[in-house]
Amino acid sequence: MDTLLEPTPVSTAAPLLQLRGVSKRFVQDIDLAGRIANLLGAGHRASVVHAVADVDLEIRPGEVIGVVGESGCGKSTLGRVVAGITPPTEGSVSFLGKPVAAMDATERRAWGLGVQMIFQNPMASLNPRMRVMDIVGEAPVVHGLVKASQKVEYVESLMRQVGLDPGYAQRYPHQFSGGQRQRIGIARALALKPRLIVCDEAVAALDVSIQAQVLNLFLALRREFELTYLFISHNLGVVGHVSDRVVIMYLGRIVEAAPTETIFSAPNHPYTQALLAELPTLDTTRRAYLPIQGELPSPLAPPPGCAFHPRCPHAMPRCKVEAPVLRTLQTGHTSACHLNDPTP
Ligand SMILES: Nc1ncnc2c1ncn2[C@@H]1O[C@H](COP(=O)(O)OP(=O)(O)OP(=O)(O)O)[C@@H](O)[C@H]1O
Ligand code: SF4
Ligand SMILES: [Mg+2]
Repeated sequence: MDTLLEPTPVSTAAPLLQLRGVSKRFVQDIDLAGRIANLLGAGHRASVVHAVADVDLEIRPGEVIGVVGESGCGKSTLGRVVAGITPPTEGSVSFLGKPVAAMDATERRAWGLGVQMIFQNPMASLNPRMRVMDIVGEAPVVHGLVKASQKVEYVESLMRQVGLDPGYAQRYPHQFSGGQRQRIGIARALALKPRLIVCDEAVAALDVSIQAQVLNLFLALRREFELTYLFISHNLGVVGHVSDRVVIMYLGRIVEAAPTETIFSAPNHPYTQALLAELPTLDTTRRAYLPIQGELPSPLAPPPGCAFHPRCPHAMPRCKVEAPVLRTLQTGHTSACHLNDPTP
């Protein structure tokens, strides 16, 4: 597989950020039709979505971890938990070895600044009434990362680093193209001197040619600023080009995690294999897998046992009743499938 950069060796450094048994549930209230039906005795109840279920994840300094899965599988929720925007319902998040629950105000602030998020739609995430100078420069001054007197110089240097002309610092977001707006979003995140950037479908809204440019920018900035990335995408191809390690999610759970090379050359989980089957390839040596069958089940009512069983070409009777555990197949490669059990 071609990658845009040489992959970094699997890191053994202490984790920058660690999730242990993290779950996030959302309670979805009954809609108006349900409330009316209840008045007539229907007995509808609020439903619970298990957006993220029992996730363990270690993000080591300098790594690029890709998170892949279909729409609604919990990628953004996971990213928001990592960035501290959404508190988990269960489990613990640790930043630089310290559990968030045990942090004092200074440590929480360091976590808040140290993890920044970049979103899919730069137009929606940039204040249309603010000039680039303030979009990028306001927060670092407020947080005391740069003096007010250094703001102009700081913003102009960041604009240069993300490939924007500093002469445009007084312009508004609508005066830029989609790719340029995403560069403004990147400069805004970098301005807070983060250690980790969560990119949530950060190139999905851009034209394919611009996507490659922005992906290259992410990788160049990674070296320059010693950044770590959690790179979220529904597209395994995009993630494969930038990530050292890939985590595959299905209905809120991690079903496989491995170095990128392994995910492409020796995928273990039938869901990963199905995602690979959907990628265009010129590589005739790659094994052919069956593409994904059927519809994604509702996250409100995930299937019992292995949640992938209604779509899995290898499903066995036990898959319908028994949830597989995430087993370590070899160092750095885990997969949750009964085919890996000693007696499948
Ligand atoms: N604030 C919320 N309130 C209620 N349900 C939510 C909320 N946020 C997410 N969900 C639900 O949690 C599940 C996971 O959503 P999430 O946005 O994390 O998925 P995703 O993998 O990012 O999807 P996409 O690829 O479409 O962005 C979905 O069923 C979604 O409807
Ligand atoms: S546990 Fe069973 S249904 Fe699930 S992926 Fe493995 S073989 Fe398929
Ligand atoms: Mg999302």
